[in-house]
Amino acid sequence: MTTLDGGTAPGIEAIRAFPKVELHVHVEACLSAERIEELAAEFGVPMLRPAESLFVYATLAEFLEVYEWWCDLLRTAEIAEQLAYDAAAQLRADGIIYAEVLCGPRYWPHLRREPLIEALAAGFERAYGDGHADCRLTPSISREQSAEWAMGLVEWLGTSGPSRVVGLGLDGNEELLGRTSPKFTEVYARAAELGLGRTAHAGESSGPEGVWDALEHLHLDRVDHGVRSIEDPALLEHLAEREITLNVTPTSNVITGLYPDVDHHAVGPLIEAGVPVTINSDDPKAMNVTLSGEFAEVSRSLGWTLLDVEAATRRAVDAAFCDRDQAADLHRQIDAHVETLEQGSLRKDHNP
Ligand code: ADE
Ligand code: ZN
Repeated sequence: MTTLDGGTAPGIEAIRAFPKVELHVHVEACLSAERIEELAAEFGVPMLRPAESLFVYATLAEFLEVYEWWCDLLRTAEIAEQLAYDAAAQLRADGIIYAEVLCGPRYWPHLRREPLIEALAAGFERAYGDGHADCRLTPSISREQSAEWAMGLVEWLGTSGPSRVVGLGLDGNEELLGRTSPKFTEVYARAAELGLGRTAHAGESSGPEGVWDALEHLHLDRVDHGVRSIEDPALLEHLAEREITLNVTPTSNVITGLYPDVDHHAVGPLIEAGVPVTINSDDPKAMNVTLSGEFAEVSRSLGWTLLDVEAATRRAVDAAFCDRDQAADLHRQIDAHVETLEQGSLRKDHNP
């Protein structure tokens, strides 16, 4: 029987069984290489590379180029609906009970953004009805898009978007595109007025100045990545004081060349500096990671027990954009699991 603080890093099965919450995962990156191969054959598109080596990249720029290639195969609302359904099923199989999932309309050139987001929401709804993860949507602007486009998206999301939409994201390659947060100041202000949660990728390919910019101009509730905040003590203090959560993705940062391995990742020092951190997968199929695998790696590297996995999960619930009733329900589901583990460990103590 697994215990909560067995003193050693928890095994992958115990982590998978733990009811988890994920806040930084891209729906387009939940597509498997096999499904991409099927879609390429259906549309008569030659594979960019053989399926076995499709998901191999050395830099963020290369990853995003390949990302754009396979997303071009996502051509219909039916494909979008099924992708969302399959993503919720995959996440549930990994023990995730609730997820806020990013989708980037810029990566779907064959669909208008409104039917795309409606189709994804419908897939999540159907999946939830079948007992899979409860997935909410955070549509994401790409940093190269215009403020006008982004404002149109936000108006629609906040006034007539599906109820599964809970927030707004922003992603792209900050290193290539430069300083783009100021462009979206009014867009994010409008998102706040309309009651949408606000997050943005920053401090991944940009340094701490990208995080400062995003906080100052976009008034974020939380930051996706944000790991390069570690280079600026004043920023660490600011994040800790204001309790701004960083949605960290260790393996993704290793794959795109930010760190040589998880042992050199900033996650430990960020936590030591008092910054609220959640653990996330970012691009599950496209980087061959699962949230359970990420927790296992972080646990091995930082000496975490299941108590630390629990604490990080509760932090994710507290940073989630869902309403407080739903957050309370997620905490109750965690309570129930923890209680079962505690009862098992008590039984073990009585029957050594
Ligand atoms: N889109 C999907 N994954 C991303 C990442 N890690 N950084 C920026 N944009 C992304
Ligand atoms: Zn991301």
